[in-house]
Amino acid sequence: MTNDVSNSNALYERAKALIPGGIYGHYGYYVRETGPKFFSKSDGSHFWDVDDNEYIDYMCAYGPMILGYNHPRVDEAALAQLKAGNTVSLASPVMVDLAETLIDMVTAVDWALFSKNGGDGTALAALVARAATGRKKLVKITNGYHGVAAWMQAEGSPGTTLSDSAEVIEIPWNDITALQKVIDQYPNDIAGFISSPYDHTVFSDNTLPAEGYWQEIETLCRKNGIVIIVDEVRTGFRIHLNGANVEYGFTPDLICFGKAIGNGYPLAALTGSDALKQAAQDVYFTGTQFFNAAPMAAARATLLELQEIDGANQMIDYGNRLKQGMVDIASSHGYNLNISGVPAMPYFRLTNVRRRTHAAWIDECVKRGSYMLANHNNFISTAHSDADLKRTFEIVDEAFTAMGPASAQPESTTASA
Ligand SMILES: Cc1ncc(COP(=O)(O)O)c(C=O)c1O
Repeated sequence: MTNDVSNSNALYERAKALIPGGIYGHYGYYVRETGPKFFSKSDGSHFWDVDDNEYIDYMCAYGPMILGYNHPRVDEAALAQLKAGNTVSLASPVMVDLAETLIDMVTAVDWALFSKNGGDGTALAALVARAATGRKKLVKITNGYHGVAAWMQAEGSPGTTLSDSAEVIEIPWNDITALQKVIDQYPNDIAGFISSPYDHTVFSDNTLPAEGYWQEIETLCRKNGIVIIVDEVRTGFRIHLNGANVEYGFTPDLICFGKAIGNGYPLAALTGSDALKQAAQDVYFTGTQFFNAAPMAAARATLLELQEIDGANQMIDYGNRLKQGMVDIASSHGYNLNISGVPAMPYFRLTNVRRRTHAAWIDECVKRGSYMLANHNNFISTAHSDADLKRTFEIVDEAFTAMGPASAQPESTTASA
């Protein structure tokens, strides 16, 4: 590690001249002045930036990388399919094989439709819920992210109109009473309830479902004819390989997958119950690239591999060990480190110092070769190794040493705060 990111910065300047924002969207949002901005190569759980600094990658490309970069089984499947044909005038048999593999694995669902991005699936889910119920409104969780379509963006976002979100109602996470109130206010007008399995909002501690929450949601939705849409685009295969709903003990009607399903090859899926199959068939849903066969072959290999190696539990185990070790190291420097969310998607926050100090500590970790984000959940993959864990602990310790003790930070509170 040289800490030098001058090649990244030079590229960023060139990009800004030609590409709005230079680096846009979520990648752009998390650009840090002192951090790397462009990669040169990746392998396993690591990537290298264009200045040749090597990082243990705890963002996993914001989720897609679940088995490690350049995973041989996945790449071989994709390359073989590429050679045989990728984007052709007919569908590929691998689409059927993939559907069978996915439906066998995700126990609550009976069919799958494939697309490219998670947002394709969540948008389709909304259409299916409306088509099936003949109702307009959708209930979502406050600040819950489901993609960039206008109806999913916050009211007043640039380029959207008030009518885009007119039929979307937001309620707080873990709040059954709020859902009951909305149902009372709009009886027979709510088509669907869309939510991630747990609250992984950015810029705040992530919150798991309260005991019995999903069961109560299920009861209320069933009673009132509301379609339950679980957005597993981010969580997919990192909580439970059979669906996060299995972990939390409920049965949804539609589940959206994306990100990790193809270990980085572009693919997303909307899956659903038999009861909604006809509605899914009635809705017009397509895209020029939706039938690319190589990403489907990659996804099938990814899912088979995850099952064979018990991937979710591997990531959960690593996440638990990472959490314990990091919390202890933080504590030895006087810092309270809160790690929230599920083990394979840890959200870090130093609770006894200012947010700025927390971000500075993450920057110190990044500079030393552990790529993490301060205000977004991070991700574990099955490629993260014991050597990565050991090195991460060293980096975390060195980063705290460089920061100095918590008591020396501006506005720090006591370690028990
Ligand atoms: C929970 C959730 N839903 C939907 C999406 C949208 O997926 P995509 O960016 O692939 O369209 C994301 C992306 O981050 C997500 O985290």
